[in-house]
Amino acid sequence: MASRGNFNSKIGFIAAAAGSAVGLGNIWKFPFEVADGGGAAFVLMYLGFCFILCFPVMVTEIAIGRKTQKDPVGAFGALGFPKWKFLGKMGVLAGVLILSFYNVVAGWAFGYFLEMLMGNFAIGGQFGDYIKDVVKIGAYGAVFMFSTAFIVSKGVSGGIEKASKILMPTLLILIISLVAYAMTLPHAMEGVKFYLVPDFSEINFEVVYSALGQAFFSLSLGMGALITYGSYVSKDENIISSAALITLTDISVAFLAGLMMFPFVAYMSEGNLHEVTGGPGLIFATLPGVFESFGPILGIIVGASFFLLLSFAALTSTVSLLEVPVAYAVDELKIDRKKAVWLIAIIIFIVGIPSLMANGYSPFFSSFITYMGNDNPTDFMTLVSDIANDSLLPLGGCLISFFGAYVWKKHNLNEEIAQGYPNYHGSFVEKFINLMVSYFCPIVLGIIFILTV
Ligand code: PFF
Repeated sequence: MASRGNFNSKIGFIAAAAGSAVGLGNIWKFPFEVADGGGAAFVLMYLGFCFILCFPVMVTEIAIGRKTQKDPVGAFGALGFPKWKFLGKMGVLAGVLILSFYNVVAGWAFGYFLEMLMGNFAIGGQFGDYIKDVVKIGAYGAVFMFSTAFIVSKGVSGGIEKASKILMPTLLILIISLVAYAMTLPHAMEGVKFYLVPDFSEINFEVVYSALGQAFFSLSLGMGALITYGSYVSKDENIISSAALITLTDISVAFLAGLMMFPFVAYMSEGNLHEVTGGPGLIFATLPGVFESFGPILGIIVGASFFLLLSFAALTSTVSLLEVPVAYAVDELKIDRKKAVWLIAIIIFIVGIPSLMANGYSPFFSSFITYMGNDNPTDFMTLVSDIANDSLLPLGGCLISFFGAYVWKKHNLNEEIAQGYPNYHGSFVEKFINLMVSYFCPIVLGIIFILTV
């Protein structure tokens, strides 16, 4: 049998999985979720969710992958529960849906990198027209999908691992440099205060729910991305310490993104941050103006670095999103890896075309559907992202933890974890993981799923 590929080193696996986790979610979404959700109050809740709820699900996903050495669909069959293959299929579907719209936003970021290189700071004011220009952003999206497919086509160690080992350290250097620079700007501390001073009065169900959704999406959980990456991990690796490092890297980058963004915005608004709102508008519409005010040379350096950072973060995530359906096609449908990669990338790009047109170009896709209880119609791209992020991922997480605890059973899960962690049995970590996957994760995630449908 042809080899499926493996990560060559622990650091390679961590770089790839942390690369999957660190993405648009950290840099684009997290800072504003924090600002809208009560500053440090949100951060504390987010940390709690990451370690109490997400970490055990991550460990379970990696353990299922490592045990079976299979894609998410095949994994459930290999464990002896073919009826549970639907859960893997749901993951593959979520991967396809997420990548279809994620690639569009990644394309915007890449296009902005080129605009910054050319010193076109005016693009910020033209953001609305920019995202309507389907030929241009379609081309950027195509370049992005091509780069993703190119990396994935080179295989696990020669493509994914190698690229992650270059992109992740570069990303860390870029973000740390940008934070250091942002901190030197006038009004920086007002930005930091706005970001982090806790306001517990902002916490309501909506905020709790968005913290949970953000944690899940940010850690790439609930759709088998980590089952897939886990399937390329060797038996002597410690899943617990790897998962902890992945989680810590993800949280740290999200936190740093806020420490960069708010001083920038505070500088621009001269400390008047209260009109600041999150979403796509801020990064794409406002930041170019901030960069322009640094002067032509510095503006280009900082602006291009920022959008390069965003593009790199997105790239290691799109790679993991593509790898999920590819692993399924290779393992289950026995399609040659290279063929599978290019075919699936083209299909996903096509699935993403309505999302590409959903930001003003096509009135039909831009005002696609009106949800119950919502006055304004939702565009197609937001609809797909809501279905995947708000429903499929929490449901996937709920079922994966339930599966680990009650179907595959805890002692098998523990056995697999203990392979690379000799003192695991009887440890506090074992008790914690067992308690969480048996009760807390399935119940809380199940409730969240039910409340959102
Ligand atoms: N974690 C990525 C982000 O925060 O942008 C998004 C993501 C990647 C979600 C891969 C799910 C996944 F499988």
